Amino acid sequence: MKELTIPNHVAIIMDGNGRWAKKKGLPRTLGHKEGIKALKRTIKDAYALGIKYLTAYVFSTENWKRPKEEVEFLMAILDKLIVKEVNELHLRGVKVKFLGELNDLSDALKKKIIWAEELTNSNTKMQLNLLVNYGSRQEIAGAIKKLINNNEEITESNISNNLYTSGIPDPELIIRTGGENRLSNFLLWQAAYSEIWITPEYWPEFNKQLLMAAIEHFSTIDRRFGGLNA
Ligand code: IPE
Ligand code: IPE
Ligand code: MG
Repeated sequence: MKELTIPNHVAIIMDGNGRWAKKKGLPRTLGHKEGIKALKRTIKDAYALGIKYLTAYVFSTENWKRPKEEVEFLMAILDKLIVKEVNELHLRGVKVKFLGELNDLSDALKKKIIWAEELTNSNTKMQLNLLVNYGSRQEIAGAIKKLINNNEEITESNISNNLYTSGIPDPELIIRTGGENRLSNFLLWQAAYSEIWITPEYWPEFNKQLLMAAIEHFSTIDRRFGGLNA
C-alpha cells in the first residue's frame, strides 16, 4: 500500500447530529451532545497523527434559523466545551482559535472565547480552529470591504490575508459527515484545491477508523492544481 500522507490541515463539516438522534428516537439536542464527544475524540486522534491544523464547523451564520431552544443548546454546549476542555488542550500545546462573526455572541461566551484564545495563543503543537457564527460569503465580503476601506489593492493574497483564516494554510482535506454533497457556506475561498471526502455516517458516529479512511483516500489522490504530474 502507498505510504500515508498526513495532511497539514484537515477541516470538518460536522453534519448529521439531528439525524443521528432521530434514528435512535432521541431529541436533536442529544445528537449535539454526542457530537461534542465526537469532536473531542477527533481532536485527540488528529493530534496523535500530527495534523497541525484542525478546523471544525461548529455553527454557521445560517444556523440561527433553527428553533431558539436548539440555538441556545448549541451555544451552551460550546460554552461548556471551552470551560471543560481548554485547560487540557493548553497543557498539550494546542492553540485554540474561534473564527466567525463573534460580536453577535453573548457577552458571557465572548469572554470565554477571549480567555481561551489568550491562554493558548503561544502554543505550537497543533491549532484548533472552531468556526462559530461563520459564513464564508460574509467572510469574503468582509475582507473586500476592509481592503476598500484601507485603500488596498484587491488581490488574491490581500483577500486571503483579510479572511478569518489569515495566516492559516488552506485545508488539504475537507471531511463532511452526514452524506450531503455540498459545502454549506464553508471555506469557499480556502477550499479552492481541497480534496473533499464525504461519508454517510452521522457526525456522532465519527471515529478514528473514519478519519484514517479519509486520510488513506487523501494519500492516493493525484493532486495536480491545474498542472500535470509526471
Ligand atoms: C450538525 O448537525 C450540527 C450543526 C449544524 C450545528 P445537524 O444539527 O445539522 O444535524 P442534521 O443535519 O439535521 O442531521
Ligand atoms: C453545516 O451543516 C453547518 C455545520 C456543520 C455547523 P448544516 O446542517 O447547517 O448544513 P445544511 O443545512 O445541511 O446545508
Ligand atoms: Mg445538518
